[in-house]
Amino acid sequence: MCGIVARIGESDDAVEELVAGLDNLEYRGYDSAGVAVQSGCDVDVRKRAGGIDGLRNALATDPANGSVGIGHTRWSTHGPPTDDNAHPHTDCGGGVAVVHNGIIENYQELRSELSRAGHVFESDTDTEVIPHLIESAVADGAAPATAFRAAVDRIEGSYAVAAVVGGREAVYAARKDSPLVVGAGDSTQYLASDVPAFLEFTDRVAYLEDGDVVRVTPTGFTVTDERGERVRRATETVEWDPKDTGKGEYEHYMLKEISEQPTALGRSVSGRTDSARGEVTLDGFPPGAFDGIERVHLVAMGTSYHAAMYTESLLARRGVPARAYMSSEYAGSPPPEEDGTLVIAISQSGETADTIAAVRAARAERTMVATNVVGSSLTRECDDTLLVRAGPEIGVAATKSFSSQVATLSLLSERIRRDVIGEPSPDAEEFLSALTDLPDHVRQVVESDAAERVADAFADSESYFFIGRGPGHAVALEGALKFKEITYEHAEGFTAAELKHGPLALVTEETPVFAVFNGGADDTETLGNATEIRARGGPVVAVASGETPDLEETADRVLSVPSTHPELVGVLANVQLQLVAYHAAKRRGRSIDKPRNLAKSVTV
Ligand code: F6R
Repeated sequence: MCGIVARIGESDDAVEELVAGLDNLEYRGYDSAGVAVQSGCDVDVRKRAGGIDGLRNALATDPANGSVGIGHTRWSTHGPPTDDNAHPHTDCGGGVAVVHNGIIENYQELRSELSRAGHVFESDTDTEVIPHLIESAVADGAAPATAFRAAVDRIEGSYAVAAVVGGREAVYAARKDSPLVVGAGDSTQYLASDVPAFLEFTDRVAYLEDGDVVRVTPTGFTVTDERGERVRRATETVEWDPKDTGKGEYEHYMLKEISEQPTALGRSVSGRTDSARGEVTLDGFPPGAFDGIERVHLVAMGTSYHAAMYTESLLARRGVPARAYMSSEYAGSPPPEEDGTLVIAISQSGETADTIAAVRAARAERTMVATNVVGSSLTRECDDTLLVRAGPEIGVAATKSFSSQVATLSLLSERIRRDVIGEPSPDAEEFLSALTDLPDHVRQVVESDAAERVADAFADSESYFFIGRGPGHAVALEGALKFKEITYEHAEGFTAAELKHGPLALVTEETPVFAVFNGGADDTETLGNATEIRARGGPVVAVASGETPDLEETADRVLSVPSTHPELVGVLANVQLQLVAYHAAKRRGRSIDKPRNLAKSVTV
């Protein structure tokens, strides 16, 4: 939930690089920010409630310099966002500073024990016990590395934690159930919750495993596992371009990421299809890879859950029994064990705690994850990984990841059908060719200003409803989620058929209804629902391709998308709805990239 970063090198510009790293991690939390740099035998801390600009101002009035430091951007769990609760936290003597992402479950017990021993606490956070534990071990004569491990061994819960100790040219860090990556430079090393924090400085990374404790020096890093044994964590080169993590010419990451969808989709699909033969080729999943699979359970949260719903309908239409579950529900009561169950976790970040819990609870023959982040926790939890290749997504509202998830899972659905049913879908060639054309079709949507006009036309409405069927239902829910999370207006999605079973009572001339049409046989019924809405005075905005007839008579406005395969119209409709939400939020002056109370990775 929070973002941590560390930097250790020869030059004295740790603070500058830490703040640059925090800028790129701010999507993980933006309640408060802070840095600590080693300064002789002490550590120098600057921290503020609020965003990174507050920290920058604090550093402008009271600069800090050093070659070794740690930084943090916070999304509060224990204690409100105040200067005192901001990280880094220090011990009594001011010689140890710690940043932490996660939750320490036994902190009350540790805090009481440390207080009884004379330690004085200054914050309400669970994190503050860690510097005191380190201080106490050092006071008992332990070297800093031993003291750090002793502290980590005492804490229970989830953590990615990094510490600096005055007088020592090292950063000590550990992870358990929270992400932590080493960035390996030549004479400068980094650590962070996520690669964008240091991508500007190095593209060589090493992903740490749960239970790892790492000691980083300017020239390298050494890792010991949970048993304290020396282990090697290989470095690899990430393919992301540092430009991908900046805002470029765009006012918001969200608009940048919406606009990047043609490129992202190109990456998701390219080299993975042979549309002329109706074949899909996915690295790691050769023909026969899904032999024996009888059913698919899809587990995910939020936007990724909507991609799971979309995939459920893609698989079902291919004759493969599938069901989408919210990860939290699945983790709470996983379905009974049955031979031939494949669990597919869908997660942009690969770090969502609920989804990790669902995979751990699954009683399945096999698990796989469709994720955007190489080396993320879910890639280690699952038997197989399928990368969605959307590129870094920084805006808290997921946009390009949804499109890339659906495109990648469309390929996977076709691939699974080939093994389970024994032959491609009857329209596989047409479907794969439409997938190949998807980037161009999305480009046409992104370049149109129709969504902005619709956002303006319904700027003062009371509530916003979204309806659809099959994949269009998944898109309706996603349209409503995007709208509510960045505009803070009431928005809800329903299956189109559900309306007359209750929600129709809410419809008035103040409640525009966005109706998503798939461009297939079920459009007639959705047209019927749209007519019912209009009969009650509700304005209807149809989001549809040219295949849907009679729209001019049925809808007040049409947000059109290019004609394509009916199973892919939803992806295009979703881009229109992303743009409506974006422009509606912009009109209201909302914090689009960092909506209130939210963080991008929900790791607790
Ligand atoms: C909404 C949004 C969230 C995430 C959800 C799952 O715009 O971003 O609903 O989709 O928290 O996150 P991942 O996909 O990282 O598992």
